[in-house]
Amino acid sequence: MHNLGILLSGRGSNFEAIAKNVAAGHIPNACIAVVISNKAEAGGLEIAQRLGLTTFVVPSKGKEREQHDREVVALLKDHEVDLVCLAGYMRLLSPWFVQQFPHRILNIHPSLLPAFPGLEAQQQAFAYGVKVAGCTVHFVDEELDHGAIIVQKTVPVLDGDDEHTLAERILEQEHIAYSEAINIVLEGNYDVAGRRLVRKVTAR
Ligand code: GAR
Repeated sequence: MHNLGILLSGRGSNFEAIAKNVAAGHIPNACIAVVISNKAEAGGLEIAQRLGLTTFVVPSKGKEREQHDREVVALLKDHEVDLVCLAGYMRLLSPWFVQQFPHRILNIHPSLLPAFPGLEAQQQAFAYGVKVAGCTVHFVDEELDHGAIIVQKTVPVLDGDDEHTLAERILEQEHIAYSEAINIVLEGNYDVAGRRLVRKVTAR
């Protein structure tokens, strides 16, 4: 059984999509061992509690980054987490945190990286005038929105879009992409060469 640890800061819709897929058996041999938020008011916490999951709030405000990360990692290890999923976790991880889970931390970002890293990526893409937007699930490394890419989904930008309608359609794809990426990583049937994740061909 794979123990997933979810880190979030807000609404929690990506977490909820993962939880539904776990419950439906679409992410086999996995359970959500713990949900941790750095914000007490995060909507994702209520969803987790409604689902009967174990939740913790570890406030980050006013704390040194690594001190906060040490508290979070202690909880993840207590719950024997083997894959950490950042789901709208609006906090950069310290190098120390990243080193605790090599190639075992995933993040979702609402753009086709390396375009538009950082905050409000959908709005950045819309304002730039791109015709194709999308989302990326990637391994977390020590740089912001940077590690090797696992899954990307494209979303066309329509003439009638505004930044909100575009963000909504990107979010629908995020909800699909994250579980796909988790399954790829848990199946373990891939190599990472440099930045390239390549799935191994399986004999049938
Ligand atoms: C999602 O759109 C996610 O891609 C984004 O925050 C939103 C969280 O929504 N993450 C980032 O921008 C990280 N750089 P959710 O709480 O409903 O999953």
